[in-house]
Amino acid sequence: MTAIRVAGLRKLFGGAPAVDDVSFEVESGSILTLLGPSGCGKTTTLRMIAGLERPDAGEVRVGDRVVTSAEQGIHLPPDKRRMGMVFQSYAIWPHMNVFENIAFPLRGPLRGKRRPEVEIRDKVMTMLQSLGLEGLHDRPAPLLSGGQQQRVALGRALIGDPDVLLLDEPFSNLDARRRDEMRFELKEVQARVGVTTIFITHDQSEAMVLSDRVVVMNAGRIVQEGTPQAIYQQPSTRFVMEFLGQVDQLGARVAMAADGSPRARLDGAGDVEVALDASHPWRPDDEVILMLRSASVRVREPDGSHGWQGRVLSRIYLGERTEYVVGVGAARVRAFGSAIQLLDEGALVQLEFPAEAIRAWPAARPVGK
Ligand SMILES: Nc1ncnc2c1ncn2[C@@H]1O[C@H](COP(=O)(O)OP(=O)(O)OP(=O)(O)O)[C@@H](O)[C@H]1O
Ligand SMILES: [Mg+2]
Repeated sequence: MTAIRVAGLRKLFGGAPAVDDVSFEVESGSILTLLGPSGCGKTTTLRMIAGLERPDAGEVRVGDRVVTSAEQGIHLPPDKRRMGMVFQSYAIWPHMNVFENIAFPLRGPLRGKRRPEVEIRDKVMTMLQSLGLEGLHDRPAPLLSGGQQQRVALGRALIGDPDVLLLDEPFSNLDARRRDEMRFELKEVQARVGVTTIFITHDQSEAMVLSDRVVVMNAGRIVQEGTPQAIYQQPSTRFVMEFLGQVDQLGARVAMAADGSPRARLDGAGDVEVALDASHPWRPDDEVILMLRSASVRVREPDGSHGWQGRVLSRIYLGERTEYVVGVGAARVRAFGSAIQLLDEGALVQLEFPAEAIRAWPAARPVGK
């Protein structure tokens, strides 16, 4: 197994950086996800690691081998990097059956010699089994379901025992249910094979399910790196918090409590307030943006306690639970309630959420955040 080290990678297209000073490490045998919106440079980063694109600066090491270095003028061709890849639009060969698709990378010469057919057969049959495709070896590829084709593409990427597996949004062609299943399957196969993996997605829940570590990118740069939990619970910027889940933004202003500690007081909502990080230089009346994660907010009947009370503006019955929009002062907050006990439009309700579900940001965004 092999660790990957990416240092200072940069790629310009027409003078503008598509990838700008990107550095991260992938621990041997782990899955790291590059997560970010469309056009942020994920594919370009992966293509430089794979050897399909030459960086303008920086280097990539796999184990103790430098596979690319702009500074040292090193650029190993893709087929010398011991990497398996599944592309954004996965291409399996339509004129081949399942067996031949997976066997394809083994058909080339190995150290000048062809592999014996029995060895190829053994390897492919073992791979088919580990992917749950046994019995389908002679099925023509176009007659497979989307999820099965996906597994064939994965099998072809893994058959040559690569040191590194690179996956660029491999599930984008699948429907939601298949995509969920494939996430778990991929994690299982990856753990079994133990191959160091870089995965690309712009879907935050996919990143949460699959990754040991997540690198969040925006506009060619890394904005945060960490475990899925750390990124979700301690987003370093508003961009990261907004990107990682459904949030509502609520306007508030700084008010100093009697003991001098800074509080954010929600616009138009009386005594609703949130403690602020005292290490930031807040001034009274400064504008604050509160960001609240809808998924963590519960609605219930009021019990007379103070705080986050509002009125139900609308509700959507979702079967397993009910989603509400609740007016709190000037703000609209999305929240969830039980599917059994429905609260009516206009009802006075109480909102509950853990302290981590809300974060305060200074209203003036610092440059680049
Ligand atoms: N060959 C190219 N020539 C010119 N510009 C390019 C080229 N490839 C990518 N770009 C630009 O570089 C930026 C990053 O593109 P990239 O494909 O890496 O984004 P991405 O994060 O993979 O996006 P998506 O989620 O849509 O796949 C984009 O602005 C894109 O238009
Ligand atoms: Mg892409």
